[in-house]
Amino acid sequence: MAWDTIRLDIEDDVATLTVDRPDALNALNVETLEALDEALSTAEDEDARALVLTGAGEKAFVAGADIGYMQDLTTPEAQAYAELGHRVADAIETFPAPAIAAVNGYAFGGGCELALACDLRVASERAVLGQTEIDLGIVPGWGGTQRLPRLVGDELARRLIFFGERVDATDALEYGLVGEVVAHDQLDDYVADLAADLASKPKFALRAAKDALNAAREGSQSAGLAYERRVWSGLFGTHDQREGMKAFVEKRDPTFE
Ligand code: CAA
Repeated sequence: MAWDTIRLDIEDDVATLTVDRPDALNALNVETLEALDEALSTAEDEDARALVLTGAGEKAFVAGADIGYMQDLTTPEAQAYAELGHRVADAIETFPAPAIAAVNGYAFGGGCELALACDLRVASERAVLGQTEIDLGIVPGWGGTQRLPRLVGDELARRLIFFGERVDATDALEYGLVGEVVAHDQLDDYVADLAADLASKPKFALRAAKDALNAAREGSQSAGLAYERRVWSGLFGTHDQREGMKAFVEKRDPTFE
């Protein structure tokens, strides 16, 4: 199967998914999300024993949802976009083998959220992560309000989401937002070794461990995610959403209400 905006390579039981829109810093438009959804099913059908998620080019892991696409969405359209983003994040979280985010650059908004859905996050020294949605007049919409506090704790998650802070690799490690930081030019090899190591472990035990760990933090997450989809899409059409995204597209500072 071939897609225009992502690549899926499966070698020695390791599936590597690369978001490949470097000109848009790998921002996730609808086509790319649908391709990711399909590729995740393919990797599962191929019995991949580890999954690596990364971004093409020198600058970005994934710079988020596609702001140009989002700027004029209505609430029902935004709802559909949120459903799609959630579907991909959920497919990563429930992928029947460990998923590693190789965060090789910017991971903002929906990009950070896909990294949060992975089991492990390894960052290059150049990585910068953040839930930056507030400055676009919206909130995280692909799982960030639920997965970020579970990973870094409630207060820090509030600070990161309220301020839209862009966190460099050193701080991301200190915050627990990523598990490890490695030199940029060693990231691919380092993550490939990690994935190969995981792929060599007993697959049913690993799957059971992942399921159990996911179950441990489930609680009311589904209700939380459904709530998040509603509030996220409800912000579309507000002055600040339109202005925040228009200002980004026009490369100027936004003026919020
Ligand atoms: N959507 C669409 N296009 C994007 C994008 C995005 N999220 N991020 C970057 N791009 C595009 C830029 O528009 C630009 O395109 P052109 O060359 O056609 O003008 C290209 O990628 C390169 O970007 P910059 O010129 O801005 O590159 P830079 O190096 O100066 O800055 C950056 C890089 C700091 C990542 C900056 O692009 C940026 O801040 N991007 C937005 C990040 C962001 O806020 N992401 C969250 C999106 S909202 C979201 O994800 C909602 C959700 O919860 C699901």
